[in-house]
Amino acid sequence: MTDRLSFPEGFRWGTATAAHQVEGSPADTDWWAWEQIPGKIRDGTKAHPACDWWTGRYAEDFDLAHSMAQNALRLGVDWARVEPREGEWDDQALARYREMLSALRRRGIEPMLTLSHFVHPQWLISKGGWTNDVAVRCFERFATKVVETFGDLVDLWCTINEPNVYAAYSYLLGMWPPEKHDLFGAFRVMRHQLMAHAIAYQSIHRLQPEARVGLAQHLRVFDGFKPDSALDRWAAQMQDRLFNEVVLSPPVDGLLRFPLGGGEVAELADSQDWIGLNYYSRDMVSFDITQPGMLFGRRFSMPGADFSMEGWGEIYPEGLYRLLKRLQRYGKPIYITETGVPDNDDSKRPRFLFTHLAAAHRALSEGVPLKGFYFWSLVDNFEWKEGFSARFGLIGLDLQTGRRALKRSGQLYAEISRAGAISREMVDRYAPELQTVLFPS
Ligand code: FCB
Repeated sequence: MTDRLSFPEGFRWGTATAAHQVEGSPADTDWWAWEQIPGKIRDGTKAHPACDWWTGRYAEDFDLAHSMAQNALRLGVDWARVEPREGEWDDQALARYREMLSALRRRGIEPMLTLSHFVHPQWLISKGGWTNDVAVRCFERFATKVVETFGDLVDLWCTINEPNVYAAYSYLLGMWPPEKHDLFGAFRVMRHQLMAHAIAYQSIHRLQPEARVGLAQHLRVFDGFKPDSALDRWAAQMQDRLFNEVVLSPPVDGLLRFPLGGGEVAELADSQDWIGLNYYSRDMVSFDITQPGMLFGRRFSMPGADFSMEGWGEIYPEGLYRLLKRLQRYGKPIYITETGVPDNDDSKRPRFLFTHLAAAHRALSEGVPLKGFYFWSLVDNFEWKEGFSARFGLIGLDLQTGRRALKRSGQLYAEISRAGAISREMVDRYAPELQTVLFPS
């Protein structure tokens, strides 16, 4: 009988953030412009001051991360700060990022640096953004500059965050800027982001042969609602192809299959040193003849499931295990580059941490090469359209004063990270009802 779920030596205990969500003082970007339009952000907040990292408050959060026994942090660079006008570099902005990255290193925290996370310079948007294939070369130039500048501090690179989510929210569902409803535009965006990833992958390796480069893939679980209905199962498979497989297979085999426009891109084949998994939830799918535009699949959350907040998906830790097992076949190191839960009173997060880490542990014990866990997020931050109405942090942020306070979940994550394990005794203190789930005797 085991009393501990132990993680391997050298495991990365980390959290994930994104530039626009934490930095404040935004540059001239598509998101910042959009936030100025009344009614776009649920609670009327904006990405300023957010967590105010740009003027120096990153130091407080890095101190807290250090005191939480963290050895890893995923953070971003904002393209528009580094390249405010096309082809012009801002040395002061680069110097500020250098301070941040050095501050992490001094605290023994390894940075994973994300190059593109939903937010773009307006000069790129005025060319059509990612719908224009010129974005591929622009991104490569930017990536090259960043790697040349920070190669002494960073060798773990995440090129692009969630191409499928960005394409879906910004170009298909019209929920994020530029609010398009354009199916073909959405596929063009994914195609160009995948090509940009591939070309940047090659350039980064030329500059830094030891670099470890990947991208953060948002994968969801899709299950047929009636398990014995062949049509529901088929519809779920179609959703999986359309959302997951469409971004998952190209960086493996180099093929941009239908609907990504077809063709083989040599640089894309085997263009990941590791696979990044962002996992949040699962969708149930029913076959629905009236929805040809959605490939006859109607998606919804499992009725009666465990939820943290209205409008957010089911809490389904088993999905993390299932996706990790699915990724095992690629034979690459895996990082959970995000997982987390919107939970404003922190009542669900401790339990979420236990069950999701236990799912990761189960996958590890079955040979999945999982190397790290980057919880979303270190500190409450600007949650896109939700503003600050959906809080994801292990550290609470008082928007009025900017004061930080470690939450109960933050204390728990610190204990787990310090021990490199979940113990029975921790479960007793934080979520005794999970004892038999986590340690079945
Ligand atoms: C992910 C995003 C991240 C954050 C979380 C909650 O899809 O990558 O920026 O918003 O969701």
